[in-house]
Amino acid sequence: MTDPIYVTDALIAEDIDAYLASHERKSLLRFITCGSVDDGKSTLIGRLLYDSKMIFEDQLAALEADSKRVGTQGGEIDFALLVDGLAAEREQGITIDVAYRFFTTEKRKFIVADTPGHEQYTRNMVTGASTADLAVILVDARKGVLTQTRRHSFLAHLLGIRHIVLAVNKMDLVGYDKAVFDRITLAYRAFASEIGITNFTAIPISGFKGDNITALSANTPWFKGPALIEHLETVEIGDTADEAKPLRMPVQWVNRPNLDFRGFSGQLASGKVKPGDAVRILPSGKTTTIDRIVTLDGDLNEAVAGQSVTLTLADEVDCSRGDVIAAADAPPETADQFEATLVWMADEAMIPGRAYWLKLATQSVSATVQAPKYEINVNTLDRLAAKTLDLNGIGVVEVSTDKPITFEAYADNKTLGGFILIDKLTNATVAAGMLHFSLRRAQNVHWQAGDIDRDMRANLKNQRPALLWFTGLSGSGKSTIANLVEKKLHRMNRHSFLLDGDNVRHGLNKDLGFTEADRIENIRRVGEVAKLMTDAGLIVITAFISPFRAEREMVRAMLPEGEFLEIFIDTPLAEAERRDVKGLYKKARAGQLKNFTGIDSPYEAPEAPEIRIDTTAMTAEEAADLIVERLLG
Ligand code: ADX
Repeated sequence: MTDPIYVTDALIAEDIDAYLASHERKSLLRFITCGSVDDGKSTLIGRLLYDSKMIFEDQLAALEADSKRVGTQGGEIDFALLVDGLAAEREQGITIDVAYRFFTTEKRKFIVADTPGHEQYTRNMVTGASTADLAVILVDARKGVLTQTRRHSFLAHLLGIRHIVLAVNKMDLVGYDKAVFDRITLAYRAFASEIGITNFTAIPISGFKGDNITALSANTPWFKGPALIEHLETVEIGDTADEAKPLRMPVQWVNRPNLDFRGFSGQLASGKVKPGDAVRILPSGKTTTIDRIVTLDGDLNEAVAGQSVTLTLADEVDCSRGDVIAAADAPPETADQFEATLVWMADEAMIPGRAYWLKLATQSVSATVQAPKYEINVNTLDRLAAKTLDLNGIGVVEVSTDKPITFEAYADNKTLGGFILIDKLTNATVAAGMLHFSLRRAQNVHWQAGDIDRDMRANLKNQRPALLWFTGLSGSGKSTIANLVEKKLHRMNRHSFLLDGDNVRHGLNKDLGFTEADRIENIRRVGEVAKLMTDAGLIVITAFISPFRAEREMVRAMLPEGEFLEIFIDTPLAEAERRDVKGLYKKARAGQLKNFTGIDSPYEAPEAPEIRIDTTAMTAEEAADLIVERLLG
């Protein structure tokens, strides 16, 4: 039997450029279908593929190469077989993220993202919806507007999908009754306006029978149109609206084949550009004018939103990957603190205070997220108090970045307002974000550059500043060795300062406990204090368990290269527990002390510390000598 699915994800993923190039002249509509198999989603998608009979000679050649999944000649497919295939694929592949299918009609080409409908697949729907121009919200005529209809609509709206189609399906099973259709449309309108969807198109259909899919059906004489495909073919795609906005082009790369040519390549996120236009480079704010618009097919007189081009500038201004070239008189904002909606997409919950990579357009910065202001229950749309976000959780948060980024509100510009967060250690995408607005807090606080700098302070002390960062289990010997190191340095006339966990937690950090979030905040503050002390020219020694790699790396990144020395006091848990200097392990084992490192709270050992001390193989004195030797030797 041939596999009826003749347009595959694989093909689109592998060779989408070649694929689309052959249909260049037609516009492309990306849309998403929301609903579950029960609502008739597979049948509807099958119907769209089947009725559009869209298989071309050139596609066939490519498809045949992918013979495993590719099926028969266009138009000769058995509809029932096709639908079965889609449904089976969806069920088996329920864990696959999003299936993209391609089809085309005379007027337009389409990519439909098909995602599972259940709440646990919210992240998949977000992935599919993030690039969609339109969402088809499927409702079973017998059931009407359900909780999942609301959730899908909320997500579609959240992701800025401009066009919503309410497809009231299975009309054949309610006798094509106009009253049923009107009732559902009315109920949906009430809900839609509540969440800010002002406009949608309702269409009564039967995916199974084909009513109102390609043409208006005789079974619904009361419905004046449009049929679904007709609507998909004619709905206006955002380009014209984007063109009317001011110019923004995130720079993807600097094109410098030789010394005579320096061009900035990227895709116009909005607006238009012509040679001679005044532009501003963000975040530096430098202005210049456009010299040429270069493409592989020669220079252009004008480029518009959506086009990928290389711009050359009249002046030698600094501009690199991640910068944004914008209209000089209407530049976007730059800021380092924002409010945003986050959709959490990782199995591991969000950790407030932890640093993640944030990618927005072509910019990539380090960012931390505060505990959510509130979480949104996607089914009831209630706002709930929350300390974190779990998988598929959606919340409103404040984000701070380590340097300013150039952005716009997601509602105005998806490219410059949409971002993702990436785990720094695993490189997994953990969240998708929609930026709302900047928090101006940091904007009125300017860095004050004094006349005396860190080198001058260190020179006066006749030393080079350093941060000796001890890490290891409780009772591993950090404080003991750190104390010896400081004594030795002092004898050698070095100016030092020892920050010790137990002490700092009596003062500066007395508001913090031992939850993951509190430990992260503990280390963040200690890192900032230690940095200031190295700016003062001191050799700083810190003795904190600092159990997480991510925060130790964050502190390392705050200091000039080579100034941070990670010292792993490597005492096995069994040995630390045997010593149990403070009697805490005993308490922890007895269940009297919660979140104790090594017992019921993790310790992530350094992978490549500058110095590793095996306390079972040397004395504290020997360890201190070794560290001083490595620092000054
Ligand atoms: S850290 O994890 O945030 O870096 P820090 O070094 O400041 O910890 O504090 C650790 C010290 O706090 C330990 O040496 C121990 O004396 C004490 N302590 C009290 N409760 C705990 C706990 N649950 N886990 C670890 N240490 C604890």
